[in-house]
Amino acid sequence: MVELRQVSKRFGSHEALKDASFSIKAGEFMTFLGPSGCGKTTCLRLISGFDTPTSGRIFIDGKDVTFDPPYRRNVNQVFQNYALFPHLTIYENIAFGLLMKRIAPPDITRRVQRVLEMTALSDFVNRKPAQLSGGQRQRVALARAIVCEPKVLLLDEPLSALDAKLRTQMRTELKQLQKKLGITFIYVTHDQEEALTMSDRVAVINAGRVEQIGTVSEIYYKPATRFVASFIGDTNIVEAQILSSDSGMLRCRLEGGLELHVRRQESHASAKILLSLRPEKIRLHRIDPGGVNSFSCQVAMEVFRGAVDELTLTAQGNLQLGAILANDGNAGTDFHEGDQVFASIQPEDIHIVEE
Ligand SMILES: Nc1ncnc2c1ncn2[C@@H]1O[C@H](COP(=O)(O)OP(=O)(O)O)[C@@H](O)[C@H]1O
Ligand SMILES: [Mg+2]
Repeated sequence: MVELRQVSKRFGSHEALKDASFSIKAGEFMTFLGPSGCGKTTCLRLISGFDTPTSGRIFIDGKDVTFDPPYRRNVNQVFQNYALFPHLTIYENIAFGLLMKRIAPPDITRRVQRVLEMTALSDFVNRKPAQLSGGQRQRVALARAIVCEPKVLLLDEPLSALDAKLRTQMRTELKQLQKKLGITFIYVTHDQEEALTMSDRVAVINAGRVEQIGTVSEIYYKPATRFVASFIGDTNIVEAQILSSDSGMLRCRLEGGLELHVRRQESHASAKILLSLRPEKIRLHRIDPGGVNSFSCQVAMEVFRGAVDELTLTAQGNLQLGAILANDGNAGTDFHEGDQVFASIQPEDIHIVEE
């Protein structure tokens, strides 16, 4: 539905987007995720046509739209500040785009009604935007965009003006709406939780470069780079040296001296590597469970987080590792500061990442 081929965008000497190439399937929920200033909005503006790339081509539905103005592309955008017309009613706000397109009045009524029901706004048709809550305004902005039935809907941090509780609720609503409509969504956020809960795939952007594109579980469990691993969820990044390799397994010495087995992966050009160990993949035991990858350590710190405990472990050579344990009420999983314990991690749960 949307394809970027080697797209770059420069502002003066600053390269806001560097050589981006990827495609987005029809009906997909794709998210651009990255810290503030990494180039997410720039990428969206190139797709919507509010900006043109310095180099590269953009295709929508098979057609080269690189230099087409926004109104010649079948896309619609929901803005961060909603950009509603304050003097128009909710009904008029939603109908506006259809009026501009000179749609027949009976069709306008029918389409607006349908979208009002879908976004649970039917009770508010005669109000002005100022008479609505933040969440309701956000739904009007969405309704106004989807009533035009675009092939692609672009959403630039649409939930950032809402409070935390509403933001969580709107995530589910947005996702359900997208499924119901079957429209391709391109969603921009700096919030990794939003990205993980809603997206089919995520493009992680760092300093103008798309570092990885994948399903949410791919980017979480198989991060390609140090940046991706640390930006999505918490992780332990540890430098290591490959000591030997045989039959699909690498023996590695971590900084501090601890030796672990790592399932062999494609990317390890040199003997020096970076490992990512997710804290929830580290298991703790009172007695040595034996087998590969069990090692003794001490619980240096314990932070209660309700459903889970966050522990800091100190292993051989003063190596610090974060671990997360479920507070499931099992006596065998109740560990405290100062406890001398054994930790273990499966070789396939350690991932080699690029710098
Ligand atoms: N019109 C512009 N002129 C100059 N620099 C810009 C312009 N738009 C964006 N930038 C710069 O490009 C970079 C990426 O911006 P942006 O895409 O808005 O980031 P994000 O949406 O990820 O926060 C930033 O460093 C920003 O300052
Ligand atoms: Mg932005």
